[in-house]
Amino acid sequence: MRVLGIETSCDETGVAIYDSKHGLLVDLLHSQVELHKQYGGVVPELASRDHIRKCLPMLDLALKESNTRFEDLDGIAYTEGPGLVGALLVGASIAQSLALALDIPAIGIHHMEGHLLASQLTSKPPEYPFVALLISGGHTQLMACHQPGSYELLGESIDDAAGEAFDKTAKMLGLRYPGGPEIEKLAVKGSADRFTFPRPMTSKPGLDFSFSGLKTFTRNTLAGIEQPSDQDKADIARAFQDAAIDTIKIKCERALVNTRLPSLVIAGGVSANQSLRTSLAQLTIQHNTALFYPELRFCTDNGAMIAFAGILRLSSAKGNNHSIQVRPRWPMTELEKITI
Ligand code: KG4
Ligand code: ZN
Repeated sequence: MRVLGIETSCDETGVAIYDSKHGLLVDLLHSQVELHKQYGGVVPELASRDHIRKCLPMLDLALKESNTRFEDLDGIAYTEGPGLVGALLVGASIAQSLALALDIPAIGIHHMEGHLLASQLTSKPPEYPFVALLISGGHTQLMACHQPGSYELLGESIDDAAGEAFDKTAKMLGLRYPGGPEIEKLAVKGSADRFTFPRPMTSKPGLDFSFSGLKTFTRNTLAGIEQPSDQDKADIARAFQDAAIDTIKIKCERALVNTRLPSLVIAGGVSANQSLRTSLAQLTIQHNTALFYPELRFCTDNGAMIAFAGILRLSSAKGNNHSIQVRPRWPMTELEKITI
């Protein structure tokens, strides 16, 4: 089976082809960072227009680079949601039109399930059941993953997603978009002892997160310093990152203790953060559990995760009427079990 995957949910155009026998054949990515950076964040209309410009040439190149003819494709997977509606519509329209022309299934994929399944794009994938921490620019969720496609929500952010908090904090510090990797770089130069930021929602039981207070704490700390120097900013970046990671670690520990599941899988853009990985590695060693995360290139948005999810969901893909539908909001718990 061979599936083409198209990712256009936000600011990256991803096109990949996955073959169930030969693995990932091609994985092309175009980032819109340069386009959005002057605005300090993603401008949805510009994102849609750029996906339209890039998607078909990338698709053409992906077919050529993988020596794939249209008739070799068994399905076309695309990100159906969650994400920016206009951006999602680009991938959905192309996938549905191509599927109609080729008379093969179009498979709508949940973006966060794609992120989760990216942890399986390795020679040693995690075994079910496990706890998953999904941390991206739009989501922060802890899930009990019982079987492929069967997810139970344990806790989530009640306000900003973790990645969003990194991005907004970075903006306040005058760093470029996307802020997560910038904060990570700057935090290395910062002192761990100068500021202590709160660990929100950790003093009460529960697995929900809140990150908006950390952002406010950053703003107030900055406002208290006259003409902040580079070192001041590095110290703030360090304090913010330490607090965010510590909060995430405390919630992951609770989830592992409560569920008694044997492993923790982290996925989504923020899972690229090295300090977070180190901190969660220590946690899982203490609890005699295993930690899994995707390769760095599969942590942030990519087409490979969508093509791979498409392979897994191809057999249960229902005959569709090729209506172009997207779901800007879509709880992962509504997904159907994957039958392989
Ligand atoms: O998964 P992703 O590419 O897109 C969404 O689905 O949202 O995640 C993007 C988010 C951004 O907020 C970005 O700042 C954050 O992931 N991110 C990081 C790092 N790399 C990306 N956050 C912290 N540390 C990083 N190294
Ligand atoms: Zn994503």
